[in-house]
Amino acid sequence: MTKKKILVTGGAGFIGGNFVQYMVDKYPSYNIYNLDLLTYAGDLAKHHEIEKKENYHFLKADIADREAIIPLFEKEKFDYVVHFAAESHVDRSITDPGVFVRTNILGTQVLLDAAKEVGISKFIHVSTDEVYGELDFDPTTFFSEETPLQPNSPYSASKASSDLLVRAYHETYGLPINITRCSNNYGPYHFPEKLIPLTISRVLNDEKVPVYGDGGNIRDWLHVMDHCAAIDLVMHEGVNGDVYNVGGHNERTNLEVVKTIINALDKSEDLIEFVKDRLGHDKRYAIDPTKLERLGWNPNYTFETGISQTIQWYLDNKEWWEQIISGEYKKYFERNYSLK
Ligand code: NAD
Ligand code: DAU
Repeated sequence: MTKKKILVTGGAGFIGGNFVQYMVDKYPSYNIYNLDLLTYAGDLAKHHEIEKKENYHFLKADIADREAIIPLFEKEKFDYVVHFAAESHVDRSITDPGVFVRTNILGTQVLLDAAKEVGISKFIHVSTDEVYGELDFDPTTFFSEETPLQPNSPYSASKASSDLLVRAYHETYGLPINITRCSNNYGPYHFPEKLIPLTISRVLNDEKVPVYGDGGNIRDWLHVMDHCAAIDLVMHEGVNGDVYNVGGHNERTNLEVVKTIINALDKSEDLIEFVKDRLGHDKRYAIDPTKLERLGWNPNYTFETGISQTIQWYLDNKEWWEQIISGEYKKYFERNYSLK
């Protein structure tokens, strides 16, 4: 029997990387193709344990490069596309929106054209709860799949645009699709520009942690492996054309998250430094995951078990994040923060 071919875009990044490892281990009967441009956010060092496996393959390519992508699909005839590749950091989208439009919108359109041309079993588009905009602090309100899209940052606007293109290719051309919209992920291999790994790495180095505004903004945290399991389920069981929200009811203020990490590492809360707020900073995200739960998904991690596991992972894998924060990223950090 020929093995199914699964194309994972962005599989050298944080979530895509965890998903590739999860799929390679769980499905020896599938061939997993990791397609990634290896931007600042992608690295292959994370795949040292799977790179020799027969069912793992790496392809270096730019999803927005039509001349490379269309022939690749014609040659390989992928069965599924799981599309993670994106510019993903809100702060970078505020200083440089152009690359977000190119990668997140044009790149998605190229992949959709390629998928349509060869006819695939399903295109799974990995999106974000940020496309819904922000909620106020009323704890009884949540994003559902019916919440209107109202993105506030250039990043979320580019993701919402790509969601609409995916929807349109389904409605117009009958392309089989699912869209998933997940809340904030955390876990192993999270790039240290994002709040949780930034806090862990800086606290471990006794450096100040920049907290935007008063630290009262709320995010709904989900362990990356719970997200991977959700995508696996949607890929195999999701109703064609449907959107699924992914989140685990783990709302925390940013200040609570930072204090949890500082206390777990037995350091002083004096490391916290309140800095200028992010422009257009969304107040709160919170997901109603009922639809996905009905499909059979439940998270394995609570925030408490997940954050302990994650802190331990950063303690055990210093060489991975130290080589990142000592390189080009260091200049980015200095440009974006003015900490004394
Ligand atoms: P990431 O920034 O860690 O990884 C993105 C990957 O995409 C990198 O490996 C990068 O090299 C690759 N890439 C970028 N531009 C490319 C291009 N033009 N061609 C090919 N590859 C390219 O991102 P992440 O945090 O793992 O997020 C993955 C996806 O999940 C994104 O689509 C993001 O919008 C979505 N998402 C993220 C979160 C989160 O909390 N991180 C939550 C919900 C949804
Ligand atoms: O909700 C899903 C989204 O979560 C994903 O779509 C994005 O790709 C992902 O980056 C993430 O976006 P956020 O903006 O919520 O994540 P970030 O880690 O950048 O910030 C989390 C919160 O912490 C946010 O309210 C801003 C705040 N923050 C962030 C940084 C980097 C700080 O207070 N200080 C910081 O230095």
